[in-house]
Order: sequence, then structure tokens, then C-alpha cells
Amino acid sequence: MRTVTILGSTGSIGQQTLEVLQQWDESVQIGYLATRTNIELLAQQVQRFHPLGVVIVDEHACAEFRRRFSFSGRILCGVAGLQEAAADTRNGIVIISLVGAVGILPTLAAVRAGIPVALASKEVLVSAGHIVMREARRAGVPLLPIDSEHSAALQCLRGEERESLEELVLTASGGPFRTLPRERFESITVEEALRHPNWRMGHKITVDSATLMNKGLEVIEAHWLFDLPPERIRVLIHPQSIVHALLYFRDGSVKAQLALPDMRIPIAYALSYPRRLPLAVQRLDLATIGRLEFEPPDAERFPCLRLALEALRVGGSAPTVLNAANEVAVAAFLEGAIRFLDIPELIHRALESFPSLPEPTLEEVLEIDRQVRLFVQRAVQERVSSSG
Ligand SMILES: NC(=O)c1ccc[n+]([C@@H]2O[C@H](COP(=O)([O-])OP(=O)(O)OC[C@H]3O[C@@H](n4cnc5c(N)ncnc54)[C@H](OP(=O)(O)O)[C@@H]3O)[C@@H](O)[C@H]2O)c1
Repeated sequence: MRTVTILGSTGSIGQQTLEVLQQWDESVQIGYLATRTNIELLAQQVQRFHPLGVVIVDEHACAEFRRRFSFSGRILCGVAGLQEAAADTRNGIVIISLVGAVGILPTLAAVRAGIPVALASKEVLVSAGHIVMREARRAGVPLLPIDSEHSAALQCLRGEERESLEELVLTASGGPFRTLPRERFESITVEEALRHPNWRMGHKITVDSATLMNKGLEVIEAHWLFDLPPERIRVLIHPQSIVHALLYFRDGSVKAQLALPDMRIPIAYALSYPRRLPLAVQRLDLATIGRLEFEPPDAERFPCLRLALEALRVGGSAPTVLNAANEVAVAAFLEGAIRFLDIPELIHRALESFPSLPEPTLEEVLEIDRQVRLFVQRAVQERVSSSG
């Protein structure tokens, strides 16, 4: 029986991972379930799945969980708790489905303990890709992508010689503003940005999809996962979200993976890799869908994509800066403190203010991440004060 730990079990990916595991429940033991603050849902998950332990990152919520719920397993608190849970050698696999660079240390903890990782949190590889990949290679630990595009690429690469791959194309739905005229971007509201046409996801990734930063982060993630230079990874807008990635091979062949936009499919693939287990999800019917459309991305209206590609080209700590600035800017937008167009503007300012450090160490990555967050938080504060 395999033990599966889910860090971020109360989120969109975490809950869908539990749904998938429920379909296979006779062969799985749940290791740890982890949340930041959502102890109500965590308590329900504990009752249903009987994990070995839980982690609650927020210290107050952790104390409240101990007070309100009786649970005989281990209760760990804080980011240190995430690391301890990730490194528990009873784990057969650790799912990292937290939001943001907070996933770096737990990912490394699992890798260092020799435990395979299924990674939803793209921010981990964006911010510390060179460190995480080096350690995973050294430990011989697989890092399996949960992102649908990277899962698609992994599926298409099976049975192929790496040197025959010419180019990887990641598709993007284009988000809710794909056809919105430039002048309307000034007045985009939070509610509009959260209305994704194809996917139901957490708020941060939904806003990232609306700015196209999500695709920029995914290009950086793909660079690390598949060891491809930036010029061999391309983005293509595909509003139906049926084709998830296309791989161009040197003989002129193109392989693509198709599936309905349902994250349970790539989650299941990461969990059952290299096999495929039966999954009760709706089947793709192309005749009903009728049309599959493709168009190039518009870097003018979506500067976040350009900023991400530029950060990847610059390399070093530039993607760390990009990611931290984006996390803070998106959180500020969601709180109503800044406008949609302020997001790329703040990221641009952070990239200008923090020159790239080549090959940063883990300590440097964490310190740069901390400093950039403070810098962008201050910039948000200034904006709020000057507009109020
Ligand atoms: N959702 C998708 O369809 C999808 C697809 C591809 C990739 N991804 C990636 O998967 C990751 C998770 O996305 P999601 O949509 O599942 O997010 P989500 O619904 O917001 O859930 C995030 C989970 O992480 C926890 N969390 C958030 N911030 C945290 C912090 N600072 N420290 C510790 N725990 C924290 C949340 O706890 P609380 O519930 O207490 O807030 C929740 O359990 C993201 O990196 C995203 O880019 C998501």
C-alpha cells in the first residue's frame, strides 16, 4: 500500500487529488494533509481519509485545530511542519499543491529524503528550479508535473529519444481577457479576472491565467523539467483547452496530448506514473466540441508573459524576483489594493531594482524572495496612500 501526502489538501488541486485517490482507495494510505488556515475542511478530510498526520501552517489556526478537534495522529504547525511531513520516510509520494514559493522547502525536504514528488506548485521551479532539479537528480528522485501542459509533454515524450525533440509548445486558453480591447484593461475588476472560461482553480492561478503570467511561469517550469533552452519552448493560445501541449520532433512529426480540461486527469497520471489507472471522468468527444482554434499570444496586451520570458532569458535570480513580485502583486490585486495593470508594472519595477545574481544558493534565493516581497509590499502601500 502506498502512502500519499498532500501539502495543500484544502485547495483546488488538493481536493481533486483526494477525489482521484477515492476512486482507487483500497491501495492508498493518506500520509499527511496540510492547509494554511482552512481547519474546517481539514477536519472533514481527516474524518474521511484518516491520515497519519496533519499540518496547519498558520500558528493560530493550528492551536485552534488542537483545541476544537480530536485527532489521534500527529499535528504539526508552520512551514517547519510542512518540511517534517514531506520528509517522513513512510511517504511513497508527496503532492506539493501549495500556492507559491512556500513550497520550495517542503519540496526539497521530500527530495532529500528520497521521496518522489508530484508538483503542482509551479512557483517552486520558477523560483528555485536550478536547486530543486540538481538535488532531485542527485537523489535520483522523480519530480512529476501535475500542470496539465507539463503532464501532456511528459506523456508525449514517453518512448522518444530526447535528442529528437525540436520544440515544445505549451497551450494557453488565453483567459477571460483574450479578446478584450486594450483600453478596457484599465478597468478590469477582481470579479472579471476570477471568471476563467475553462478551469475552476484557486484565486492566485486564476489571476495568473488572466494576465498570462501563468503561461510565463509554465515556460520557466518546462525549461527546468525538460531541460530545454528558452528558445525551444513556445506558447500558443488555444481557447478550448483541449490540446495541452504539442511536441515537434526532428522528422517533422508533431505529437500532442488531448483531454477535456479536467485536472483529475494529469493528477491521476502523476500518481500512477508510468502506468495509467482507470479514471471515471467525462470522455472527450471532438464532434461535440467541433472546433479547435489556435492563435499566437499578444505580448502587447499581456506584458506579464513577456516579463516572464525575459526573466528566463536573463536567468540567475531574475525568475525568483519575477515570482515573488508576482505573488505579492496578485495578492494586492485580489485585495482590491491595486489595479490589474499595476501587476506587470510592479513586477517590472522589481526586476529593474534587483539585478540578477547568477546561480544563487538556496539561502540567496530565500533572501531575495523575502526582500522582493518587502519591496513590492512597500510599493503597493505607496500606491494605496497616494490614491487614498
Ligand atoms: N487549480 C488548478 O487547476 C491548477 C492547475 C495547475 C497548476 N496549479 C498550481 O497548483 C498550486 C495550487 O493551486 P490551487 O488552485 O490548488 O490553489 P488553492 O485552491 O488556492 O489551494 C492552495 C492550497 O495551499 C494552501 N496554501 C496557500 N497558501 C499557503 C501558504 N502561504 N502556506 C501554506 N499553505 C498555503 C491552501 O490552504 P488554505 O485552504 O488554508 O488557504 C490550500 O490548501 C498552484 O501553484 C497552482 O499554480 C493549479
